[in-house]
Amino acid sequence: MTTATTPDRRFCVAPMMDWTDRHCRAFHRVMTRHALLYTEMATSAAVTHGDVARLIGFDPAEHPVALQLGGSDPDELAQAARTGADLGYCEINLNVGCPSDRVQSGKFGACLMREPELVADCLQAMREKAAIPVTLKCRTGVDDQEPRDALPDLLSRVKSRGITTAVIHARKAWLKGLSPKENRSIPPLDHALVHAMKSAFPDMEIILNGGLETLESGLEAQGNLDGIMLGRAAYHTPWQLADVDGAVYGSPNPVTSPEAAVTAYLPYIAQQLDQGVRLHSITRHMLGLFHGRPGARQWRRILSENAVKDGAGIEVVMTALAATQPALASV
Ligand SMILES: Cc1cc2nc3c(=O)[nH]c(=O)nc-3n(C[C@H](O)[C@H](O)[C@H](O)COP(=O)(O)O)c2cc1C
Repeated sequence: MTTATTPDRRFCVAPMMDWTDRHCRAFHRVMTRHALLYTEMATSAAVTHGDVARLIGFDPAEHPVALQLGGSDPDELAQAARTGADLGYCEINLNVGCPSDRVQSGKFGACLMREPELVADCLQAMREKAAIPVTLKCRTGVDDQEPRDALPDLLSRVKSRGITTAVIHARKAWLKGLSPKENRSIPPLDHALVHAMKSAFPDMEIILNGGLETLESGLEAQGNLDGIMLGRAAYHTPWQLADVDGAVYGSPNPVTSPEAAVTAYLPYIAQQLDQGVRLHSITRHMLGLFHGRPGARQWRRILSENAVKDGAGIEVVMTALAATQPALASV
């Protein structure tokens, strides 16, 4: 195995199905040059048998970007990891946290918390085949597992196979009786357990995920952990990403206002429209940009109502942006 540069994981935006697609990542990248962005999960079966460009194609401008895979067949995962590495991803992450029925029937995601040795086999196979870093994203346990046993057991097994980074969503998944959405809010958070894992495995890189509402509160919760990962908060209130480069990486923030973020993103939108992408597929990720600011409602309404229309073009974004201005002037 060749070694590759390790991405800087001090601040990550979580993998989120249907949300963190390439348009979303390109939008987030306008606001932060340094955050590590994750793809939505792609299954190893789809990547090895499907249309790779459509499934996991990405623009180099999104970098640093990590590919998340789901699966439980070590050989297939290894092959998919290799494909991701060859495409230019900077990391491959294995999903051991998603609780949906579809995922359970395929025996991957959170139900693999019960099969730590298989997870270790998968990660080792991926690591041997892909010449880039391979990481784990997991829960603290599932169902009646005791997290204080299950989580360190999993970490020690993957560590013994050379895996040095774990992103921990700090709550259990309850595989029976809760929807995936409920599984992101009902099982209680246990950030303390994640901190205990750092003490138990000080030479592992441990990233905290789960319930971090803002960049600021996330950094407070981080303590001596190696990084934080925001999911829903980053998606719904993306403007806070514009503080990440300064607050986390000590470099200048790339844009100084939501308006400037829109302007910086316009060339990307125009290019995608030229390629036949529908405006709504792009702008749906931008609805929360003005959250909590004057003009937020107009922005959201104009985009929601008009970007879905046939032939909607960049003028819809310009109209929505202009509608935020009078409101700004009146405060
Ligand atoms: C719409 C949605 C889709 C998600 N899809 C994935 C996924 O594909 N892979 C994954 O590991 N986690 C997935 N998650 C879980 C998030 O990555 C994250 O672990 C979870 O939302 C907790 O973080 P948060 O409280 O900051 O949102 C998803 C979450 C949401 C809201």
